[in-house]
Amino acid sequence: MSGRVLAVVLAAGKGTRMKSERPKVLHLLGGRPMLWYVLRALRDAGVAEAVVVASPALEEHVEAIARDAGMPATRVVLQEPQLGTGHAVQVALAGTAERDGTVLVLNGDMPLIDAALVRAVVAARVSALALVTAKMPLPSSFGRIVRDDGSVRRIVEERDATDDERAIDEMNAGLYAYDERKLRAAIAELRADNAQREYYLTDTIAGLVARGERVVPVVAPDYRAVLGVNDRAELAAAAARLNALICERHMRNGVTIADPATTYLEPDLEIAADVTILPNTTIGRGTAIGAHSEIGPNARLQAARVGEHAVIADSVVVDSEIGDFALVGPWAHVRGGSVVGTGCRVGNFVELKNARLAPGVKAGHLTYLGDAEVGSRVNIGAGTITCNYDGAGKHRTEIGDDAFIGSNSSLVAPVRIGANALTGAGSVVLRDVPDGARVAGNPAKPLEKKET
Ligand code: UD1
Ligand code: CA
Repeated sequence: MSGRVLAVVLAAGKGTRMKSERPKVLHLLGGRPMLWYVLRALRDAGVAEAVVVASPALEEHVEAIARDAGMPATRVVLQEPQLGTGHAVQVALAGTAERDGTVLVLNGDMPLIDAALVRAVVAARVSALALVTAKMPLPSSFGRIVRDDGSVRRIVEERDATDDERAIDEMNAGLYAYDERKLRAAIAELRADNAQREYYLTDTIAGLVARGERVVPVVAPDYRAVLGVNDRAELAAAAARLNALICERHMRNGVTIADPATTYLEPDLEIAADVTILPNTTIGRGTAIGAHSEIGPNARLQAARVGEHAVIADSVVVDSEIGDFALVGPWAHVRGGSVVGTGCRVGNFVELKNARLAPGVKAGHLTYLGDAEVGSRVNIGAGTITCNYDGAGKHRTEIGDDAFIGSNSSLVAPVRIGANALTGAGSVVLRDVPDGARVAGNPAKPLEKKET
């Protein structure tokens, strides 16, 4: 991005229409706060520096959101009380020395904004001001663009508009590129003589026009990119639109999504080509999925690292790794730093917590493996439980390669089952079992060698 651009993000508003204790721009869509998307668009557009105008309730959250969005050069300026969008810009600029360059002002409640539009409005500022407008269906609560002979003359807020002005279908998007010196002069002249008794940033347009300045409109190609979120119905609509855009991007990259309407993907996921995602599936941050894997239906993944050719059906995988060719589900729960090795089978009603399964392990049914280290090719019978908690502390269970754990075994940790060892059905194992040994019973004891 050429020339110096300072972005001012307006985010201090009370957000009354959300009817929430939480500041509006902290409300989530796609697992991230609204403000994250605005800062991410600025980063993607190449804007180096941003100021977020915040209320006291928002202030402390901005730094972490900016870092997460990749806009570390973001400062916070407190606006208290909030006297309108014009006042917000004034507060933002009061803390910085006057310089030549562009001030990009944008509302913090437009999470669908994209970097291309940000670049376009900055590039269009050849005079005092370029601003983004959009043709929108009526009725609308947006400010109306009043033109005369094709030129933008002023903006009238919906609440202050006459019936004729309300019939205008060209709206103010809330994204502006100003010449900094001219912006400062125009802000200084604002008056709060309107329905809301606020200092409207939008009144700078008439002010600049009165000084003979030219205002360049940039008409957004798709109004949906600039929809503001003012209440929870609009939040849900924005979330649906965001999700559709993310799904579309993955589909164009070669991912099959059977039903984008019931597939919920957060931003920044790594999903390889030829992955298939089946309906009712939610995939959250920190997740990567290798080629040819199939996820869903009815799956939830969060911080999951999934290999290639894996299948995860009707299951939940959180903070865990699933190896190549592994089969998980239906109805499995894998969590807490678990690792499911290559070709493992983790089936119906199996829960893994902080369990590492070496390649080829089979745990097909009704099992809990917690704080466990399971060797290669071990067979875990139905109903096996690692009793990892004794009421005070958590303890580990180790199972050696090729061991066979009989159905309904209770392995009371800390305990080690040796390689090639066997526990009979219903064993309650209190002591370590040596390599190759066979035990059964409650408490489990070595089985007698058959006399021949
Ligand atoms: C604003 C515009 C309107 C435009 C619409 C686009 C004004 C006066 N009107 O209306 O023309 O069509 O956005 O979505 O600018 N804020 C502050 N401090 C304040 C007041 C607001 O930081 O004192 C922030 C809010 O947090 C919000 C943004 O400014 O992110 C816009 O404020 P909002 O009240 O939502 O304005 P709209 O009525 O939507
Ligand atoms: Ca708004």
